[in-house]
Amino acid sequence: MDSLSRVGGVLCLDGERLDALAERFGTPLYVYSAAHVEARYRAFDAAFAGHPHRICYAVKANSNLAVLRLLAGLGAGFDIVSGGELERVLRAGGAPGSVVFSGVGKTRAEIDRALEVGIGCFNVESAAELDRLESAARAAGVRAPMSIRVNPDVDAATHPYISTGLRENKFGVSVDAARDLYRRADASDALEVLGVDCHIGSQLVRVEPFVAALERVLELVDRLAADGIGIRHLDLGGGLGIRYRDEAPPEPETYAAVLLETLADRELELVFEPGRWLVGEAGVLLTRVEYDKTHEGREFLIVDAAMNDLLRPALYQAWHDIVEVDAGRSGPQRSVDVVGPVCESADFLGRERSLAAGAGDLLAVTSAGAYGFGMASNYNSRNRAAEVLVTDEGARLVRRRETLDDQLACELLDGN
Ligand code: LLP
Repeated sequence: MDSLSRVGGVLCLDGERLDALAERFGTPLYVYSAAHVEARYRAFDAAFAGHPHRICYAVKANSNLAVLRLLAGLGAGFDIVSGGELERVLRAGGAPGSVVFSGVGKTRAEIDRALEVGIGCFNVESAAELDRLESAARAAGVRAPMSIRVNPDVDAATHPYISTGLRENKFGVSVDAARDLYRRADASDALEVLGVDCHIGSQLVRVEPFVAALERVLELVDRLAADGIGIRHLDLGGGLGIRYRDEAPPEPETYAAVLLETLADRELELVFEPGRWLVGEAGVLLTRVEYDKTHEGREFLIVDAAMNDLLRPALYQAWHDIVEVDAGRSGPQRSVDVVGPVCESADFLGRERSLAAGAGDLLAVTSAGAYGFGMASNYNSRNRAAEVLVTDEGARLVRRRETLDDQLACELLDGN
């Protein structure tokens, strides 16, 4: 991650010493680089500069209000999947018209609210949802702008849990079913057909699946044109991968070049929903080693962050690099498992890592800006971590550490 550097052996993020931030805000602590997010946003935007496009940041990747406000300020739109994400976008100053609403389970209340504020597009994922959207729009006396999410049945060649474009996944509808839904939508005065949508998965490190999906989507667009149904935009979802270990994901220029070539001379506006690519490498999770433990020939560093703070290793066997914050304070390197205090054997941040750190030392888990805090929980009644954003003006707390009172606020003893 290019925001990280070492000054006198100490790891810094955009010039801020991470040991000082850990001292000031405590650990576990998420720290994000605003400059990195901004550079990524501009690079993505520049890659498609020659073609009409919109970047709708996938809020689920990191929904901190300060991150959303930063992206809104850069001109991003937003891809949301819940009423909660919609309210976050609005509170962060995002324009409702820049919002696309994805997800297979939109409730009537969520649809009503999205219609009320006037979002840009509903990405409809089933026939039943189309019915629900139509009646909600009719009741509200508006036309609902919409796309159908197509499941193009391509293999994204990523972890099965984050693959979404295969026939057996719950997402979208088949190309054939989509054609029928478009006919119905086109005939309805409560629906306004805007686009075709697809998202095939996350952490894709090759361009071929994106191209295959686009080809399938274009076949549908051409068939719809033959049916007299005009499509204005193509939403190609998110999914562009980042480097966690040694992956070599495509640069945005390559991604843009192959997509624009496949699009040929069609004048469709392109919509993208990148999440991880914009924020993933912008963040680190700082954690302190509580104990150094040797057990049955294995060495463990027991740290104060756990699977409730960063679930990805436990859930997907995901790799995140783990590095010492102070390169100077350490002893000889050895192979260790970096584990948290949670009572699950899956509670690890990294296994068989070569580290010299010991008790009291600080570690940084890198590429933790996406699907890190957002997937955090209170499992084992642990308070969720604090979050800090580093900008030109220095490091600023953007979410305070939770307290036990925060955790208990919703619980009732004896019904009151
Ligand atoms: N659009 C839709 C409809 C999505 O479902 C997703 C992610 C995105 C956009 C953004 O994808 P991205 O650009 O971030 O790859 N928790 C998993 C990732 C789940 C992704 C779910 N959908 C992880 O930690 O790897």
